[in-house]
Amino acid sequence: MVYNSDASEIDTSAAEAFEKFLVPTIFGPWSKVMVNHAEAKVGDSLLDVGCGSGAAARYAKSIVGKFGSVSAIDLNEGMIAFAQMLDKNNEIDWQKGDVTDMPYKDQSFNIVAGNQLLQFLPDKDKGLKEMKRVLKQGGKLALTIYCPKNKNPAHEAIAKALENNGVASKAVTHPFSFGDPILIGDLIQKAGFRDISVVRKQMDSYFNSAEHFIESLAAGGPSSRHALEQLDSSGLKKLKAEVTKSLTEFVDPNKGLRVITTANLALATA
Ligand SMILES: C[S@@+](CC[C@H](N)C(=O)[O-])C[C@H]1O[C@@H](n2cnc3c(N)ncnc32)[C@H](O)[C@@H]1O
Repeated sequence: MVYNSDASEIDTSAAEAFEKFLVPTIFGPWSKVMVNHAEAKVGDSLLDVGCGSGAAARYAKSIVGKFGSVSAIDLNEGMIAFAQMLDKNNEIDWQKGDVTDMPYKDQSFNIVAGNQLLQFLPDKDKGLKEMKRVLKQGGKLALTIYCPKNKNPAHEAIAKALENNGVASKAVTHPFSFGDPILIGDLIQKAGFRDISVVRKQMDSYFNSAEHFIESLAAGGPSSRHALEQLDSSGLKKLKAEVTKSLTEFVDPNKGLRVITTANLALATA
Protein backbone atom coordinates (compact mmCIF):
# COMPACT_ATOMS: atom_id res chain seq x y z
CA MET A 1 0.00 0.00 0.00
CA VAL A 2 1.27 3.52 -0.82
CA TYR A 3 -0.36 6.91 -0.36
CA ASN A 4 -1.44 9.69 -2.74
CA SER A 5 -0.46 13.31 -2.08
CA ASP A 6 -3.97 13.75 -0.55
CA ALA A 7 -3.20 10.79 1.82
CA SER A 8 -5.71 8.47 0.08
CA GLU A 9 -4.52 4.87 -0.19
CA ILE A 10 -3.37 3.21 -3.42
CA ASP A 11 -3.66 -0.58 -3.42
CA THR A 12 -0.38 -1.96 -4.79
CA SER A 13 -0.95 -5.60 -3.72
CA ALA A 14 -1.59 -6.93 -7.25
CA ALA A 15 1.42 -4.98 -8.58
CA GLU A 16 3.60 -6.42 -5.80
CA ALA A 17 2.49 -9.99 -6.61
CA PHE A 18 3.05 -9.31 -10.33
CA GLU A 19 6.58 -8.07 -9.62
CA LYS A 20 7.35 -10.96 -7.25
CA PHE A 21 6.02 -13.92 -9.25
CA LEU A 22 5.54 -12.94 -12.89
CA VAL A 23 8.29 -10.39 -13.61
CA PRO A 24 11.27 -12.67 -12.76
CA THR A 25 9.74 -15.55 -14.71
CA ILE A 26 7.89 -14.12 -17.73
CA PHE A 27 7.55 -10.33 -18.06
CA GLY A 28 11.13 -9.41 -17.07
CA PRO A 29 12.78 -11.73 -19.61
CA TRP A 30 10.36 -10.64 -22.36
CA SER A 31 11.00 -6.96 -21.52
CA LYS A 32 14.74 -7.53 -21.96
CA VAL A 33 14.19 -9.27 -25.30
CA MET A 34 12.09 -6.29 -26.45
CA VAL A 35 14.58 -3.59 -25.35
CA ASN A 36 17.45 -5.56 -26.93
CA HIS A 37 15.42 -6.00 -30.13
CA ALA A 38 15.11 -2.18 -30.30
CA GLU A 39 18.92 -2.01 -29.96
CA ALA A 40 18.75 0.55 -27.14
CA LYS A 41 22.15 2.10 -26.46
CA VAL A 42 23.90 4.63 -24.23
CA GLY A 43 22.30 8.08 -24.52
CA ASP A 44 18.95 6.93 -25.94
CA SER A 45 15.66 8.44 -24.73
CA LEU A 46 13.19 5.57 -24.29
CA LEU A 47 9.50 5.49 -23.39
CA ASP A 48 8.06 2.28 -21.87
CA VAL A 49 4.34 2.19 -22.77
CA GLY A 50 2.06 0.12 -20.49
CA CYS A 51 5.05 -0.23 -18.18
CA GLY A 52 3.34 -2.20 -15.39
CA SER A 53 5.74 -2.44 -12.46
CA GLY A 54 8.54 -1.09 -14.68
CA ALA A 55 10.62 -4.12 -15.79
CA ALA A 56 11.45 -2.73 -19.26
CA ALA A 57 11.99 0.81 -17.97
CA ARG A 58 14.49 -0.35 -15.32
CA TYR A 59 16.35 -2.55 -17.80
CA ALA A 60 16.43 0.27 -20.36
CA LYS A 61 17.83 2.67 -17.75
CA SER A 62 20.70 0.26 -17.11
CA ILE A 63 21.54 0.50 -20.83
CA VAL A 64 20.95 4.18 -21.71
CA GLY A 65 22.92 5.35 -18.65
CA LYS A 66 23.12 8.83 -17.19
CA PHE A 67 23.34 10.53 -20.59
CA GLY A 68 20.10 8.85 -21.68
CA SER A 69 16.60 9.06 -20.24
CA VAL A 70 13.70 6.71 -19.56
CA SER A 71 10.03 7.60 -19.16
CA ALA A 72 7.26 5.13 -18.40
CA ILE A 73 3.47 5.32 -18.51
CA ASP A 74 0.68 3.03 -17.31
CA LEU A 75 -3.05 3.41 -16.78
CA ASN A 76 -3.06 1.40 -13.57
CA GLU A 77 -2.49 3.51 -10.47
CA GLY A 78 -1.26 0.57 -8.35
CA MET A 79 1.32 -0.45 -10.95
CA ILE A 80 2.72 3.09 -11.37
CA ALA A 81 2.81 3.74 -7.61
CA PHE A 82 4.65 0.47 -7.02
CA ALA A 83 7.07 1.05 -9.93
CA GLN A 84 7.85 4.51 -8.56
CA MET A 85 8.48 3.02 -5.12
CA LEU A 86 11.01 0.55 -6.59
CA ASP A 87 12.86 3.42 -8.29
CA LYS A 88 14.68 4.50 -5.13
CA ASN A 89 16.99 6.99 -6.90
CA ASN A 90 14.24 8.59 -9.00
CA GLU A 91 16.01 7.67 -12.21
CA ILE A 92 12.87 7.23 -14.32
CA ASP A 93 10.01 9.63 -15.12
CA TRP A 94 6.78 7.73 -14.18
CA GLN A 95 3.34 8.84 -15.39
CA LYS A 96 -0.12 7.48 -14.66
CA GLY A 97 -1.89 7.87 -17.99
CA ASP A 98 -3.41 6.42 -21.12
CA VAL A 99 -1.13 5.58 -24.04
CA THR A 100 -3.84 6.72 -26.46
CA ASP A 101 -3.52 10.27 -25.06
CA MET A 102 -0.04 10.83 -23.66
CA PRO A 103 1.29 13.90 -21.83
CA TYR A 104 4.53 14.10 -23.85
CA LYS A 105 5.53 16.62 -26.52
CA ASP A 106 5.82 15.60 -30.19
CA GLN A 107 9.12 13.87 -31.07
CA SER A 108 10.29 13.40 -27.47
CA PHE A 109 11.86 9.91 -27.70
CA ASN A 110 14.03 7.85 -29.98
CA ILE A 111 12.58 4.51 -28.77
CA VAL A 112 9.03 3.63 -27.74
CA ALA A 113 8.71 0.09 -26.36
CA GLY A 114 5.72 -1.81 -24.99
CA ASN A 115 5.73 -5.37 -23.66
CA GLN A 116 2.27 -6.97 -23.84
CA LEU A 117 0.27 -3.76 -24.18
CA LEU A 118 -1.12 -3.41 -27.72
CA GLN A 119 -3.68 -6.24 -27.42
CA PHE A 120 -5.30 -4.45 -24.45
CA LEU A 121 -5.97 -1.16 -26.28
CA PRO A 122 -9.60 -0.85 -27.41
CA ASP A 123 -8.42 1.71 -29.99
CA LYS A 124 -5.12 0.26 -31.21
CA ASP A 125 -4.89 2.65 -34.17
CA LYS A 126 -5.12 5.67 -31.87
CA GLY A 127 -2.52 4.17 -29.52
CA LEU A 128 -0.05 3.50 -32.36
CA LYS A 129 -0.53 7.00 -33.83
CA GLU A 130 0.17 8.45 -30.40
CA MET A 131 3.36 6.35 -30.15
CA LYS A 132 4.39 7.69 -33.60
CA ARG A 133 3.67 11.27 -32.51
CA VAL A 134 6.02 11.10 -29.52
CA LEU A 135 8.81 9.39 -31.50
CA LYS A 136 11.51 11.42 -33.25
CA GLN A 137 11.69 10.93 -36.99
CA GLY A 138 13.73 7.78 -37.54
CA GLY A 139 13.04 6.60 -34.00
CA LYS A 140 12.10 2.99 -33.29
CA LEU A 141 8.94 1.31 -32.11
CA ALA A 142 9.34 -2.11 -30.42
CA LEU A 143 6.32 -4.08 -29.24
CA THR A 144 5.73 -7.63 -28.03
CA ILE A 145 2.28 -9.15 -28.36
CA TYR A 146 1.44 -12.74 -27.40
CA CYS A 147 0.62 -15.23 -30.17
CA PRO A 148 -2.76 -17.03 -29.99
CA LYS A 149 -3.46 -19.25 -26.99
CA ASN A 150 -2.62 -22.52 -28.77
CA LYS A 151 1.02 -21.33 -28.77
CA ASN A 152 0.80 -20.62 -25.02
CA PRO A 153 -0.28 -24.04 -23.67
CA ALA A 154 -0.14 -23.39 -19.91
CA HIS A 155 -2.45 -20.37 -20.19
CA GLU A 156 -4.68 -22.30 -22.59
CA ALA A 157 -5.00 -25.15 -20.06
CA ILE A 158 -6.15 -22.70 -17.38
CA ALA A 159 -8.68 -21.14 -19.77
CA LYS A 160 -10.11 -24.59 -20.59
CA ALA A 161 -10.31 -25.57 -16.92
CA LEU A 162 -12.09 -22.30 -16.08
CA GLU A 163 -14.72 -22.96 -18.76
CA ASN A 164 -15.12 -26.57 -17.48
CA ASN A 165 -15.87 -25.06 -14.08
CA GLY A 166 -18.45 -22.60 -15.39
CA VAL A 167 -16.25 -19.46 -15.26
CA ALA A 168 -15.80 -17.24 -18.33
CA SER A 169 -12.17 -17.46 -19.45
CA LYS A 170 -12.02 -14.17 -21.39
CA ALA A 171 -9.72 -12.50 -18.87
CA VAL A 172 -7.22 -15.35 -19.35
CA THR A 173 -7.54 -15.53 -23.14
CA HIS A 174 -7.70 -11.77 -23.85
CA PRO A 175 -3.88 -11.29 -23.76
CA PHE A 176 -3.67 -13.91 -26.58
CA SER A 177 -6.42 -12.40 -28.72
CA PHE A 178 -4.34 -10.23 -31.08
CA GLY A 179 -1.73 -12.67 -32.30
CA ASP A 180 -1.93 -12.44 -36.09
CA PRO A 181 1.43 -11.01 -37.32
CA ILE A 182 -0.12 -9.74 -40.57
CA LEU A 183 -2.80 -7.78 -38.72
CA ILE A 184 -0.17 -6.40 -36.34
CA GLY A 185 2.08 -5.30 -39.22
CA ASP A 186 -0.82 -3.75 -41.17
CA LEU A 187 -1.98 -1.76 -38.16
CA ILE A 188 1.54 -0.44 -37.50
CA GLN A 189 1.85 0.56 -41.16
CA LYS A 190 -1.55 2.29 -41.09
CA ALA A 191 -0.32 4.41 -38.16
CA GLY A 192 2.45 5.79 -40.44
CA PHE A 193 5.46 3.63 -39.54
CA ARG A 194 7.90 2.15 -42.10
CA ASP A 195 10.48 -0.68 -42.21
CA ILE A 196 8.14 -2.97 -40.27
CA SER A 197 9.07 -6.48 -39.18
CA VAL A 198 7.13 -8.94 -37.04
CA VAL A 199 8.97 -12.04 -35.83
CA ARG A 200 7.81 -14.86 -33.59
CA LYS A 201 9.77 -15.94 -30.53
CA GLN A 202 9.18 -18.61 -27.90
CA MET A 203 10.38 -18.51 -24.31
CA ASP A 204 10.42 -21.12 -21.55
CA SER A 205 9.81 -20.08 -17.94
CA TYR A 206 9.73 -22.38 -14.92
CA PHE A 207 7.35 -22.43 -11.96
CA ASN A 208 7.60 -24.91 -9.05
CA SER A 209 4.36 -26.58 -10.15
CA ALA A 210 1.10 -25.93 -12.02
CA GLU A 211 -0.38 -24.99 -8.66
CA HIS A 212 2.34 -22.36 -8.14
CA PHE A 213 1.76 -20.96 -11.63
CA ILE A 214 -2.00 -20.66 -11.00
CA GLU A 215 -1.42 -19.05 -7.60
CA SER A 216 0.98 -16.54 -9.21
CA LEU A 217 -1.62 -15.59 -11.83
CA ALA A 218 -4.38 -15.41 -9.20
CA ALA A 219 -2.31 -13.00 -7.10
CA GLY A 220 -0.70 -10.84 -9.78
CA GLY A 221 -1.89 -11.69 -13.30
CA PRO A 222 -2.85 -8.25 -14.70
CA SER A 223 -5.73 -9.81 -16.64
CA SER A 224 -6.16 -13.43 -15.51
CA ARG A 225 -6.59 -12.76 -11.79
CA HIS A 226 -10.00 -11.28 -12.63
CA ALA A 227 -11.16 -14.69 -13.94
CA LEU A 228 -9.51 -16.76 -11.20
CA GLU A 229 -11.03 -14.64 -8.43
CA GLN A 230 -14.48 -15.89 -9.55
CA LEU A 231 -13.68 -19.29 -8.02
CA ASP A 232 -14.17 -20.13 -4.35
CA SER A 233 -11.49 -22.18 -2.58
CA SER A 234 -12.96 -25.57 -3.54
CA GLY A 235 -13.38 -24.40 -7.17
CA LEU A 236 -9.77 -23.24 -7.22
CA LYS A 237 -8.61 -26.58 -5.80
CA LYS A 238 -10.54 -28.44 -8.52
CA LEU A 239 -9.09 -26.19 -11.22
CA LYS A 240 -5.53 -26.70 -9.93
CA ALA A 241 -6.02 -30.49 -10.06
CA GLU A 242 -7.40 -30.34 -13.63
CA VAL A 243 -4.61 -28.08 -14.89
CA THR A 244 -1.91 -30.17 -13.15
CA LYS A 245 -3.24 -33.26 -14.95
CA SER A 246 -3.43 -31.61 -18.36
CA LEU A 247 0.10 -30.15 -18.13
CA THR A 248 1.88 -33.35 -17.00
CA GLU A 249 3.94 -33.47 -20.21
CA PHE A 250 5.46 -30.05 -19.38
CA VAL A 251 6.82 -31.07 -15.95
CA ASP A 252 10.57 -31.37 -15.63
CA PRO A 253 11.51 -33.38 -12.51
CA ASN A 254 14.32 -30.94 -11.67
CA LYS A 255 13.01 -27.58 -12.86
CA GLY A 256 9.24 -27.84 -12.30
CA LEU A 257 6.49 -26.74 -14.70
CA ARG A 258 7.70 -25.41 -18.06
CA VAL A 259 5.48 -22.51 -19.04
CA ILE A 260 5.89 -21.77 -22.73
CA THR A 261 5.04 -18.27 -23.90
CA THR A 262 5.18 -17.35 -27.58
CA ALA A 263 4.96 -13.78 -28.78
CA ASN A 264 5.29 -11.62 -31.88
CA LEU A 265 8.08 -9.06 -31.68
CA ALA A 266 7.23 -6.05 -33.82
CA LEU A 267 9.84 -3.47 -34.85
CA ALA A 268 9.23 -0.36 -36.95
CA THR A 269 10.71 3.06 -37.76
CA ALA A 270 8.88 6.36 -37.29
C1 LIG B 1 0.37 -7.38 -19.28
S1 LIG B 1 0.74 -5.90 -18.46
C2 LIG B 1 2.42 -5.70 -18.97
C3 LIG B 1 3.18 -4.76 -18.08
C4 LIG B 1 4.64 -4.48 -18.47
N1 LIG B 1 4.76 -4.00 -19.82
C5 LIG B 1 5.52 -5.69 -18.27
O1 LIG B 1 5.88 -6.32 -19.26
O2 LIG B 1 5.83 -6.02 -17.11
C6 LIG B 1 -0.13 -4.70 -19.43
C7 LIG B 1 -0.08 -3.31 -18.83
O3 LIG B 1 -0.67 -2.40 -19.77
C8 LIG B 1 -1.37 -1.42 -19.02
N2 LIG B 1 -2.35 -0.77 -19.91
C9 LIG B 1 -3.44 -1.32 -20.51
N3 LIG B 1 -4.09 -0.40 -21.23
C10 LIG B 1 -3.39 0.76 -21.11
C11 LIG B 1 -3.55 2.07 -21.63
N4 LIG B 1 -4.58 2.38 -22.43
N5 LIG B 1 -2.66 3.02 -21.28
C12 LIG B 1 -1.62 2.72 -20.46
N6 LIG B 1 -1.42 1.50 -19.94
C13 LIG B 1 -2.28 0.53 -20.26
C14 LIG B 1 -1.98 -2.21 -17.88
O4 LIG B 1 -2.37 -1.37 -16.81
C15 LIG B 1 -0.87 -3.17 -17.53
O5 LIG B 1 -0.04 -2.68 -16.52
